[in-house]
Amino acid sequence: MGYSPWGRASNLKGGILRLKSPKDAPSRSSLKLDEAIQVLMSNKQRKATFRLGHTAVDLGAAPGGWTYQLVQRGLQVTAIDNGPMDKKLMATEQVVHLKENALTWLPEKPVQILVCDMVEKPSLVANLMAKWLLQAKAAHAIFNLKLPMKKRFQEVSDCIGEICDQLEAQEIDYFWQAKHLYHDREEITVYFRRQMPK
Ligand SMILES: C[S@@+](CC[C@H](N)C(=O)[O-])C[C@H]1O[C@@H](n2cnc3c(N)ncnc32)[C@H](O)[C@@H]1O
Repeated sequence: MGYSPWGRASNLKGGILRLKSPKDAPSRSSLKLDEAIQVLMSNKQRKATFRLGHTAVDLGAAPGGWTYQLVQRGLQVTAIDNGPMDKKLMATEQVVHLKENALTWLPEKPVQILVCDMVEKPSLVANLMAKWLLQAKAAHAIFNLKLPMKKRFQEVSDCIGEICDQLEAQEIDYFWQAKHLYHDREEITVYFRRQMPK
């Protein structure tokens, strides 16, 4: 059983965005980012973000399911992971693969969107996302908080609260949404957007 407050119910049948895994996607987790982009970002934000030549970073990218979604939308992607990336994806010439530590690496220039699907402690991921957003290294961030623990709601509230507190302390305007997506497993997907400096 579940319920939705009046006016906040999904337009989708059963609240589920049914997606087909593309044949050439390097992993099934590709669908998570596809769903996140369609469900958590507004039309206006999608149009502004996914333009030919815009840039993205994928932290913990291998084998490339999430990078695939960004490449399909015309972005140039820096994929950070020690593991190997899918060969077909690399052949698109839209991906630069760096074997760096995603917890410490930062780009020189800001990117339009940061995505992160690392299997790490949620608080660590939240603080990493806060660092990128505070430093205006990305205008949009989509990331997963992996939740194998018991007090999941508390963990998610603490993580999102931490990012909000850090942005508010610097008086940065922001928006966020989070959802346990249909394609998610023991995790929740979070979207943050911040006002970038002029
Ligand atoms: C769940 S997988 C990502 C799957 C990917 N999103 C996809 O759709 O194909 C997590 C990845 O994070 C990488 N990873 C974990 N910690 C990392 C770190 N500190 N630096 C770089 N990569 C890391 C792992 O090597 C692994 O490939």
